[in-house]
Amino acid sequence: MKLSKRLRQIIAFVPHDAIPLDLGSDHGLIPLALIREGLVKRVFASDISLKCVAKIKKNTENYQDQVIAYQAAGLDSLPKDVNCLIMAGMGSFLMINILKAHRTSLSQFQTIIIDSHAEVPLIREYLNDNGFMIEDERGIIENSHFYEIIKFVPGKGTYDTDDVLIGPFIKNDAMYLRNMVQRLEGNLETLSLKMVPKNVIQDLKDKIRRYQKYASKRTN
Ligand SMILES: C[S@@+](CC[C@H](N)C(=O)[O-])C[C@H]1O[C@@H](n2cnc3c(N)ncnc32)[C@H](O)[C@@H]1O
Repeated sequence: MKLSKRLRQIIAFVPHDAIPLDLGSDHGLIPLALIREGLVKRVFASDISLKCVAKIKKNTENYQDQVIAYQAAGLDSLPKDVNCLIMAGMGSFLMINILKAHRTSLSQFQTIIIDSHAEVPLIREYLNDNGFMIEDERGIIENSHFYEIIKFVPGKGTYDTDDVLIGPFIKNDAMYLRNMVQRLEGNLETLSLKMVPKNVIQDLKDKIRRYQKYASKRTN
């Protein structure tokens, strides 16, 4: 099975022999890869959609004892032995709402792996305010999409505003940042042709400046 770079990075962050829950699993490719590659012995996969749960069951039918798929909204019906949470392919607002609804359950996770497709700084901030620090993170570019995969572990990090915006590890990835600057400059060009409020343009210019500072710092 050829996994995308994005999914490969997510599974690379799963600790050996963890008991993960892939929340919002959709196709079940993450649990399938974890089992096939022998990285974990058992994995849970949930989705709010019954259709997706059926899809996960079909895709993992050869591993029924090891991939336990179930329908649930967010962290409802969370199995007690899960110690690693994976949330990928959703935006930070949804992820934060899911976490907020079961704040007391968060202490059961030794690892939280996040691949948020929107407003990434918000999830960095939320999880750090709620007992998790960033152990590692990677910026991945695939088919012109930018993904930031973050591994959180229990603890408290000390992050400045650039750490929250760009990422404390991604800040050192000059190649990723240079590509990000190019993309943001493209966005700026597009926005400049439209009737958007001046403060939106100014915010984007500030953001580009902050990225540029790190993009030109190191070469890798
Ligand atoms: C875009 S897919 C991402 C699939 C996979 N995680 C990935 O990264 O490739 C988002 C999935 O989240 C599910 N989802 C959305 N809201 C949810 C919620 N509140 N609880 C559980 N699953 C949810 C959707 O049904 C959908 O299957």
